[in-house]
Amino acid sequence: MISSRIRELLSQMSPQEKLGQLQIVYRPRHEEAAALVRAGIGAVFWPQSAAASNALQREAVEGTRLGIPILIGLDVIHGQRTIAPVPLAQAASFDPDMVERLARTAAVEARSGGVTWTFSPMIDVSRDPRWGRVVEGFGEDVHVTSVMGNAMVRGYQEQDLSRPGTLAATAKHFVAYGQPDGGRDYNSVDMSAQRLRNVYLEPFRAAVRADVAAVMASFNTVAGVPMHANGALLTGILKDEWGFDGLVVGDADGVANLVPHRVAETIDDAVRMAYAAGVDVEMGGAPSAIAWDASTLDPARLDDAVARVLGVKEALGLFERPYVDEAAERVEPTDATRAQARRAAARSAVLLQNDGTLPLSTGSRVLLTGPYATSTDHLGAWAQSFSARSSSIADALRARDDIEVIVEEGVSFFGDRHDDVDAVATAALEADVVVVCVGEPSSLSGEAASRSDLRLPGRQADLIRAIAGTGIPFVVVLANGRPLVVADWIDEAPAVLEVWHGGTEAPAAIVDLLLGDQEPAGRLPMSFPRSAGQVPVHYAHENTGRPAAVRGTMTLESVDVALEGPANVQEKYTSKYLDLDLGPQFSFGHGSGYATFSYGQPRVSSAEIAADEAVTLEVEVTNTSARAGDEVVQVYVEDVVASIAPPVRRLVAFRRRTFAAGETATLSFEIGPEQLGFWLADGRFAVEPGAFVMHVGGALERTVPVRLQVR
Ligand code: NOJ
Repeated sequence: MISSRIRELLSQMSPQEKLGQLQIVYRPRHEEAAALVRAGIGAVFWPQSAAASNALQREAVEGTRLGIPILIGLDVIHGQRTIAPVPLAQAASFDPDMVERLARTAAVEARSGGVTWTFSPMIDVSRDPRWGRVVEGFGEDVHVTSVMGNAMVRGYQEQDLSRPGTLAATAKHFVAYGQPDGGRDYNSVDMSAQRLRNVYLEPFRAAVRADVAAVMASFNTVAGVPMHANGALLTGILKDEWGFDGLVVGDADGVANLVPHRVAETIDDAVRMAYAAGVDVEMGGAPSAIAWDASTLDPARLDDAVARVLGVKEALGLFERPYVDEAAERVEPTDATRAQARRAAARSAVLLQNDGTLPLSTGSRVLLTGPYATSTDHLGAWAQSFSARSSSIADALRARDDIEVIVEEGVSFFGDRHDDVDAVATAALEADVVVVCVGEPSSLSGEAASRSDLRLPGRQADLIRAIAGTGIPFVVVLANGRPLVVADWIDEAPAVLEVWHGGTEAPAAIVDLLLGDQEPAGRLPMSFPRSAGQVPVHYAHENTGRPAAVRGTMTLESVDVALEGPANVQEKYTSKYLDLDLGPQFSFGHGSGYATFSYGQPRVSSAEIAADEAVTLEVEVTNTSARAGDEVVQVYVEDVVASIAPPVRRLVAFRRRTFAAGETATLSFEIGPEQLGFWLADGRFAVEPGAFVMHVGGALERTVPVRLQVR
């Protein structure tokens, strides 16, 4: 619904004034940005302070004929001043309320400085860890990505953009950017309509239902059509089928990139094609929108695009309150935002394995080694120059008086002639326990940061093996922005704690976890492959006609086979690699904690339902340990027979809950059409009659099944 104010403005605007609203420009120099705003450009990137934002806003409100305020955009991805864990890590928390609160903090900090629009959340389902941008999203699972994306949208937008401290959110990148050929950033995507609908479109559909203000087009093609010119998806599905009434923004120079894509001959053609396809705002600004030829754009489409932009400005209350209070700009974290970030970093960590070496005993003599012992590179991709820095794990550990610390880095991230693995191994002999802090620096993940080799860079694995050779107990702390290949050392490591890039307060949180002040209870949002040659490898793959099952190897398929698979399982002619064990090294959903849990037999409120009905699934979970801890209860659905080969398992619900020592609680979940159905290639949603098995547990490899029949 277009408001009377917007209708009135549209009737007064010249074609050039309309075009100006359809661009966001990046110009770091104030004079240039101010000149563009005076000329009618409707959105700019954040000029880095409240005062500079107000100055540009004044040019728009007081210096243009109609006084339309500008949007001020920025990539506020996981914090503005206080940096929270990277989104992939936030997903690992399996705690959407926490994700919502972190986005809220980011919004308050950013809005106080004049930002009104963030290019977040990234909800590209990501199944190829070679792609560096997996760090910016919520991993491989459709449900987790949808839930976390919506939590972020709620945190930024508070379901009412006119409230103080909100940001207009952008769901990006529409669509299927998470599956570029070979994991190479910006590369081509080609896939079936059913996979597009069930996997890649689904989180966007959820974001539209959560009223996300904007959607960003992606750089990739889908079946040969670049997304910036993809009318079938941008207009056909997003705007028409789903009724999205917010704005579609192009990605940086994505419209101009239609020329190197070789689908447009000139920039003018590119602009015409992009707007016809459904892009509303071009990002980049070369050439300036006011120089475009308005006659090439359909007048109704032009008005529609302008109305969408003005609609976001109006929702944000910018016509009434265009300026921010410069004196109230938040430039530093507060004690409260630091405490929140510290807890979030701890809640995002995943205990990959532990023989009891963790938590460390107080009073022990600890050798801290590896490049992450002293590195302060914990902010991860997309932290900005104005974000609060972090300290190092060494600094945080030294701040404790109940532990003795010796620090000897031993090796650098990338390996150079100063690396001295042997010296560390000698020093280890003097310690009670060694903490090996390794990983990938932030620069190795994020945009344009694809890798073909997913092992730890440099000589970090040598360091781990050298420590293993001493026989001294040790712990590996892994800090990274993507799933890594750890096969060359994992079997030698007694305990491994995945901490990702945890943000401003990561080091303190890591120490909290190492010493047991916080309980690690995150779960992997993305599988760790055994080798780069195995990717993409993800848990929800489609059933094949020849599921692999090798005796003695626990895999999803062998569980299937044991449950109800065909008797004639073929061991050679099955889908697998000859030179790798089955399945990933660590699957999606994997992770343990210091506490231990057991599950009762799950129950459904009715064993048989109609396709439009729902059941309540209940399961009793017990903390079988003597310490309090969190469990992430996961519910997977297996569709036993469907009209198209279904995924072997599909997560449909999860809940993270804290249990006191010895506590038993009953958790319940609603399972209905949304959980049981799927999209057919023609765009129909179907719940097909037949048998379903729900698998309930704390990780994929530890689930208890319960059957449900749909008639
Ligand atoms: C390019 C990236 O793909 C996108 O995610 C980001 O929002 C824009 N640049 C703006 O910085």
